[in-house]
Amino acid sequence: MTENIVVSDEEAVRIITMRRADKKNALTQAMYLTMSAAIDSAQANDAIRCLVIAGVPGAFTAGNDLEDFLKAGTAASDTARPNAAMTLLRSLANNTKPLIAAVDGVAVGIGTTMMFHCDYVIASTAAKFSTPFIKLGLVPEGASSLLMPRAIGHHRAFATLVMGRTVSAEDGQAAGFVNQVVAPDQIEAETRKVAREICALPAEAVAISRKLLKPPPEELLKRIEQESALFGERMRSKEAVTAFQSFLARKRA
Ligand code: COA
Repeated sequence: MTENIVVSDEEAVRIITMRRADKKNALTQAMYLTMSAAIDSAQANDAIRCLVIAGVPGAFTAGNDLEDFLKAGTAASDTARPNAAMTLLRSLANNTKPLIAAVDGVAVGIGTTMMFHCDYVIASTAAKFSTPFIKLGLVPEGASSLLMPRAIGHHRAFATLVMGRTVSAEDGQAAGFVNQVVAPDQIEAETRKVAREICALPAEAVAISRKLLKPPPEELLKRIEQESALFGERMRSKEAVTAFQSFLARKRA
């Protein structure tokens, strides 16, 4: 558990809020595990009919904490991607409840790749999606190499996932992975409205239909593991370690 993740149940909606504003919601190991537990514990809970992931004003999340990446990349023992991130990714792949993302500000790395596990994405006009994996010497994660090209087409996915181009809320909507674009001060109210709309539907019929719409979890989990093995190797590469160090040095300068 960590105070950087706040989990609140509002009637049938579980709202998972990332709250580490001073670090733009960069995700620590404890944050991943707490988010994962909040998703997992909702699965068998019939009272929860919808999940929401949100951030703070101006930051959905800056992605994995780069200090943690640097530690893992320079650790003496061979290591795959830090396990806590994998724990969250597995929870997302196995999740059976409708999942809404409410994105204001930066959504970096896993902050963008988790959109493709969501069922409904509400972005503010200030949302900025980016996956700088390759610029960091890494490779895509979270089954994004499978889900993103399927959702938005190979060419757009290449520009985002490989070239690391930032995608605005409007471009995300045109690409098809953002449902709605709203003013930043409207995002909370709009998210609650959409969540209530989903909760009002017959839960069993929603669950069956959602399952039909999505790739089977086994397919996602297989790709997540494949990506993770490559990600773990890349994290230890000179390209990656240099990129982590230069981000952290930039901030310390
Ligand atoms: N890991 C660790 N710390 C991070 C971080 C991350 N991923 N992202 C931001 N931070 C920290 C910064 O070091 C800074 O800390 P400091 O105030 O102690 O120096 C603080 O959060 C604010 O970040 P800052 O860069 O000043 O904010 P910004 O608004 O100018 O830029 C970002 C925001 C997200 C664009 C920028 O911080 C960034 O590029 N972060 C790295 C994102 C990344 O590569 N994530 C990994 C994806 S795989």
